[in-house]
Amino acid sequence: MKITGKELRQKWLEFYKSKGHTDIGAVSLIGDGTTGVMFNVAGMQPLMPYLLGQPHPAGKRLCNVQGCVRTVDIDSVGDATHFTFFEMMGNWSLGDYFKKEKTAWTFELLTKVFGLDKDKLCTTVFEGNDSAPRDEETAALVIGLGIRPEHVFYLPKEDNWWELEGTVGTPCGPDNEWFYPLDADKPDPVFPDDYVEIGNDVYMQYRKLENGYTPLDHKNVDTGFGFDRMLFFLNGFHDAYLTDLFTGALGKLEELSGKKYSDGGETQKGMRIIVDHTRTAVMLIGDVQSLLPSNVGAGYILRRIMRRAIRWCRKLDLSSDAMLDVAKIFIEEVYSEAYPLLLEKEEYILGEIKKEADKFEATLATGMKEFEKCVAGLERKNEFMKKSDPAYVPETVIGGKAAFRLYDTYGFPLELTEELAAERGLTVDQDGFETAFKEHQEKSRVIAKGEAKGGLESHSEQATRYHTATHLLNAALKAVLSPDCNQKGSNINDERMRFDFNFDRPMTAEEIKAVEDLVNEKIREDLPVVYREMSLEEARKEHFVGVFDSKYGDVVKTYSIGEFSKEMCGGPHVSHTGELGHFKIVKEQSSSAGVRRIKAILE
Ligand code: ALA
Repeated sequence: MKITGKELRQKWLEFYKSKGHTDIGAVSLIGDGTTGVMFNVAGMQPLMPYLLGQPHPAGKRLCNVQGCVRTVDIDSVGDATHFTFFEMMGNWSLGDYFKKEKTAWTFELLTKVFGLDKDKLCTTVFEGNDSAPRDEETAALVIGLGIRPEHVFYLPKEDNWWELEGTVGTPCGPDNEWFYPLDADKPDPVFPDDYVEIGNDVYMQYRKLENGYTPLDHKNVDTGFGFDRMLFFLNGFHDAYLTDLFTGALGKLEELSGKKYSDGGETQKGMRIIVDHTRTAVMLIGDVQSLLPSNVGAGYILRRIMRRAIRWCRKLDLSSDAMLDVAKIFIEEVYSEAYPLLLEKEEYILGEIKKEADKFEATLATGMKEFEKCVAGLERKNEFMKKSDPAYVPETVIGGKAAFRLYDTYGFPLELTEELAAERGLTVDQDGFETAFKEHQEKSRVIAKGEAKGGLESHSEQATRYHTATHLLNAALKAVLSPDCNQKGSNINDERMRFDFNFDRPMTAEEIKAVEDLVNEKIREDLPVVYREMSLEEARKEHFVGVFDSKYGDVVKTYSIGEFSKEMCGGPHVSHTGELGHFKIVKEQSSSAGVRRIKAILE
């Protein structure tokens, strides 16, 4: 191996520290909710306020290696180059240096530190449009450094403009991307076919608006080089799973299964999926925010990833305990230095993986039978129809109701059913699944409504809105004041809500405003309100708040509002927070010793 993961990490950080940057370390993988993006998908994401102008406590030159989770390509994992978790080596100028220094440093790092041949490097710049000019400045700078002019390409916005998709108000700008031939010895490589993108320097000088862009007061640089990608590429590998990040994990799977990674085919694909997905699960459960698999939001994505890995363990005749062995290698060997928190949380992480595996395995076999029944039913029907009508076009779609049953009764994420279907040349009716899902939710809501008691004086639509608002308020108080604030009582009518909670002093005006703002932000996000029944044990594990006075083994009713609020409750609730309107606290007063009372209205 020419370069190990540890060396690459060090070289990146040392280089930028030598250029006056401060290593700010990595933060949580889970988005903070400000952009609506669930996970960190880029190193710049946690730095958004600073790129927009707020001073950063560590100064104007920053660097780090930040974990990212991108699940858009999840179906491609299994090939030689895709991951769901990866790290991004980054460095930033917050209104400090700009193109001249940045191009020089990237060039120096690539050619001097990593020894790449300047004559083989290719680079692309923004060709310009109505929002921003053609980036001739960067082109001239890189040519001045020694990049061959015929290796500099002007490309349109689709290629050379970087922004966080689906967001507004975020910093963005044209970028300068760096490429190198994957096969460095190939005599006349053709751009871009024979090249791999190794990283990019974004000149973040705009802010994204609803329609268009506006220049920022200070110009930033946002650099991102894929750590895992650089590592395989610098080693001359064509397979990203051959680096020392995965040697131990794959070796373990070979030992346990008696199969060889180098056999290729399904074995290789399966091993890649198991190690990639297990690594992501380790990182998310071991994150400072400890994400756990669940049926909503980010937790659902984690569940999908874990269940896919479990299924592939079975396909390779491995017990899902193989994931624990693989997880241990990541925690104890590969990432122990860069992520010491994983070691501290090792027992917890392994315990949660085991629990999810046990839970899924308990229904996997029966679920698979059910799935086979659906396929057999389809085949029977096709055969029968073909006999009576030779022109009959065979049906290849598994119905939405069947997919929902697999989801609801056997815990098969929709994507798993789709993957199983694809293996048989079939697809799944996604719209039908959505419809079945909604119908189910509606039914649960009606049942819950009928059974709801406690604190509610009426079940009018307005009272239902107030009821959902109490959940938001409860979560907001915990977030703003203290996680120890708990609901002590509530009372609702059509005009207002009253909410009592433990807190030992009056709230300040700022705190009241912060709570109001947070509730209103969650209303604006129009989060789904999801009803679910689960065991008391599960509710406890998933950190639902409420009164845990039911007996062990009891089934409890729960409502989650996005990832923001999770409460045990009988409902009823609105279906989306957007239905609440505007939340306003009209009074904050003492209720009894150590208990405060808030009166609030929805306008
Ligand atoms: N933000 C840029 C990226 O993610 C650097 O590629």
